[in-house]
Amino acid sequence: MRDYDFVVIGSGIAGLTFAIKAAKHGRVAILTKRKGADSNTAWAQGGVACVTSDEDSFDLHICDTIEAGAGLCDPGAVETVVKEGPARIRELVELGLQFDQRDISGHREFDLGREGGHSKRRVLHVHDLTGHEIETTLLRAARSSPNIELLENHMAVDLITAAKLGFATEDHCLGVYVLDEVSGTVETLRSDRLVVATGGCGKVYLYTTNPAVATGDGVAMAWRAGAVIANMEFIQFHPTCLFHPLATSFLISEAVRGEGGILRNRKGEDFMSRAHPKGALAPRDIVARAIDAEMKRTGAQCVYLDITHRSREFLQERFPNIYETCLRNGIDMAEEPIPVVPAAHYQCGGIKTDINGATSLPGLYAIGEVACTGLHGANRLASNSLLEGLVVAHRACEAIVRHRPPAHPAGSLSLPEWVAGDTQDVDELVVIYHNWDEIRRLMWDYVGIVRTDKRLQRASARLRNLQREIQEFYWNFRITVDLLELRNLATTAALIVDSALSRKESRGLHYTMDYPEMDECLRRDTLLSVAS
Ligand code: SIN
Repeated sequence: MRDYDFVVIGSGIAGLTFAIKAAKHGRVAILTKRKGADSNTAWAQGGVACVTSDEDSFDLHICDTIEAGAGLCDPGAVETVVKEGPARIRELVELGLQFDQRDISGHREFDLGREGGHSKRRVLHVHDLTGHEIETTLLRAARSSPNIELLENHMAVDLITAAKLGFATEDHCLGVYVLDEVSGTVETLRSDRLVVATGGCGKVYLYTTNPAVATGDGVAMAWRAGAVIANMEFIQFHPTCLFHPLATSFLISEAVRGEGGILRNRKGEDFMSRAHPKGALAPRDIVARAIDAEMKRTGAQCVYLDITHRSREFLQERFPNIYETCLRNGIDMAEEPIPVVPAAHYQCGGIKTDINGATSLPGLYAIGEVACTGLHGANRLASNSLLEGLVVAHRACEAIVRHRPPAHPAGSLSLPEWVAGDTQDVDELVVIYHNWDEIRRLMWDYVGIVRTDKRLQRASARLRNLQREIQEFYWNFRITVDLLELRNLATTAALIVDSALSRKESRGLHYTMDYPEMDECLRRDTLLSVAS
């Protein structure tokens, strides 16, 4: 058993920011199931929405966020994130991050991008590689801190709680079991300050803009530990993922539409200008649904994003990553429209927390995409999430250090080691891969952009069976990352379906043909827990 003052699970923007700050107060372990840089953050293209210009204001950013959130944002959370954002951006700059700038009347200012739902240009970016640059900057700072131990290839298995150990006290998180993928052993890490920062769950869906690590691990683990989970029905589908067999999951940033990109059908018609006054820059849920409808109407496999009116030089400078990736796949975006489809992109719900990352389970904190602070409501405003990761990680560290929980009686006891039981090695990986594919396909077909009760019920029934099969498999075989991810994927998928089934209206990202209107009487969060 190893002891840490803080254990952080996940190495994206939120986890690293927290760890760097917490390292000033004690020893920190960061667990990451692949390499340090394998996170959703590293894939973020668009940037960080933050008020930095005299032409913008906190009020405007707050209004845009609340409007996108379709009645479910927590106004206090929105105000906090928006107003504390600039200070956190300054810290990133002090760590060496260089956001793009441009000359304005003889002095340098941030070159601000525009994205859907924003009434002003306010997105700080580093070309179209913003997340990659943020990840590199934070990892460098974390690696140089003597108080931080970065445990790569270590995957959290389950949280250890007082209730699970049978202590007759108030429940409390005490630590975590961790699979060391290299040795194949499960270790016990003890800490009464455990921070889940595992990101989202895009891999629950067949098509996603997320990297392979986004398997809903944090939500599934917190759920099993008894924490409250909120608003999982609100999965954001990004309207423009590259449609190409060799480059699945490659995002074409909304910033391309911010710079004038037009969405066209195969006849070349600008169908978004018919669908919404803001055209291709309408809120994401509307654009994704309009594309889905257009594809269904015309029988096409994709639509097209046309930015050919901008010069090649501009595109190469502003979007080097997108330009090169398209070119490598035979698409010259300066000359021809880019084929695109919607794909699962962001989990707006998650482990329910306050604005300091505290969950319903004492000792357990959640920050970043895995958490539901109330900022996003029923639909996240583009580029608000990196900002949230920075602000809430900072606040969580301050709050945890300020209010150290009273020593739990179990805190001094040694925790039981993981019992592997009479398990054998998996000899038929095909079963895991089959179940994995089945979940992702059924979620795409039955729990996608447009839903019905009948499809949701079908998904629910199949997922229950799958969960039973996985549980059987899990107990009979020695655990592996594939098996753990499959178990988490199935749990997260079931939480999405249960949440969607319980919302009998259409709101934000949850659109159902059975209840196509928003119902003011149902303006409340969907809360689920093992106990409910
Ligand atoms: C994008 O670049 O389009 C993604 C930005 C975001 O999802 O916040």
